[in-house]
Order: sequence, then structure tokens, then C-alpha cells
Amino acid sequence: MSDLFKEKAGDWDASQMKIELSSAIGSTILAQVSLNNEMKVMDFGAGTGLLTSHILPRVNSISAVDTSASMLDKLAGKPEFHGKVTAVCQDITRKKLDAKFDLIISAMALHHVEDTAGLMETFAEHLNAGGQIALADLDKEDGTFHPADVEGVFHHGFEHEALKTIIESKGFADVQFHTAHTVHREDKSYPIFLVVASKN
Ligand SMILES: C[S@@+](CC[C@H](N)C(=O)[O-])C[C@H]1O[C@@H](n2cnc3c(N)ncnc32)[C@H](O)[C@@H]1O
Repeated sequence: MSDLFKEKAGDWDASQMKIELSSAIGSTILAQVSLNNEMKVMDFGAGTGLLTSHILPRVNSISAVDTSASMLDKLAGKPEFHGKVTAVCQDITRKKLDAKFDLIISAMALHHVEDTAGLMETFAEHLNAGGQIALADLDKEDGTFHPADVEGVFHHGFEHEALKTIIESKGFADVQFHTAHTVHREDKSYPIFLVVASKN
């Protein structure tokens, strides 16, 4: 598994933009999803655990799934996560986990997975009946959010209606979009959605 975030992991948490974004996504999840400390939660594309840190106080334990060993090394080094967050370095779209969850959360990882329909199917397979997804990513953008030559970016954001159709086709209902945040950079604005849905 190639680690496309190896160079970025070291100073990931030093970015004010990333801190503000994960905080806004975390607050929107807390406002839109009922959480309790019995729930089994997966943070997909958890990275260094910025989103995990916002949700953990309300659920007690989280499985942090990511394909980047470097990002997960940073996560595993955070003392506040010890005994509560399990780092899982695996591409679950290729090899399923032997576990089911009540909630799958994610921040800014969907655009790194080429097959969105396959990913939603993978999420459905990892959820208990009635389980939920709460996924944040970019609204459709003009391709300027990432540098032009960056590897591993498969989508320049997502159209809500097209993503809703995919999510519903994989067995989810009650699909709701919320605006979690807007990233402002130079003269551009990049809205970030949170989509919440329940497995049928
Ligand atoms: C933009 S970063 C976001 C990290 C973190 N969620 C945050 O908000 O700071 C995207 C993350 O998705 C991970 N990722 C990309 N493809 C993945 C896949 N197929 N399975 C799991 N994680 C993946 C990357 O390794 C990276 O850590």
C-alpha cells in the first residue's frame, strides 16, 4: 500500500485550516447525530485523528481506519487516545474488517477514493442495521482546492444530488446534507458538506 501522506503527516496538525475544518465538521456531527458511549464508531480516513478527537469524548472508543501508516503513527502517538482509539492501517475497500459499527464518520477522505459507489457499499457492509454514516467532503469545486499535480485525488468535490443517488443505491435512507464549513483561500470559497444517512 503506497503512503501518499508520508511527507504531509509530520506537520499535518500544525495547519490552522485543518484544525478549524475538523472542529467545524466535528461540531456539525455532534449537532446532527445522536451519540452515546455504547456506540461502535469508525473514523474512515482518520489521518492523525483530528476529527476523532472531537467525537471521542461522546462515544468512548473509535476505530481509526486509514491507508497511511505515517498519519496513523501520529494518531497513535497522542496520549489522549490511548486505550480508546484503535488504529487500523487497512484499505477496507479491498479487505473488509471483521467488525461492524453503529456509525461511520469521515472528514475529507471521500475524494481520495476513486470508486464512490464501491465505498458506500463497503460502508453499508460495515454497519449494523440502522447504523449511520456522517461524511464530510468538498462540494463540487473547480479543481483548484488541491495542487494540479497531486496524486490520489480522484474527485474535485461532489454534487449533492449525484452523491445522494449513489448513497441511496447502496441501501441508505434519510439522506440529509448540511453545510459544515467553508474554506476561504485567496479569492475562492470552498464549502464543505456533511452528509448523514441511515442504513435501511
Ligand atoms: C485529507 S486527509 C484527511 C485526514 C483526516 N480525516 C483529517 O480531517 O485531518 C485524507 C485521509 O484519507 C486517507 N485515505 C485515502 N484513501 C484511503 C482509503 N482507501 N482508506 C482509508 N483511508 C484512506 C489518507 O491516507 C488520509 O489520511
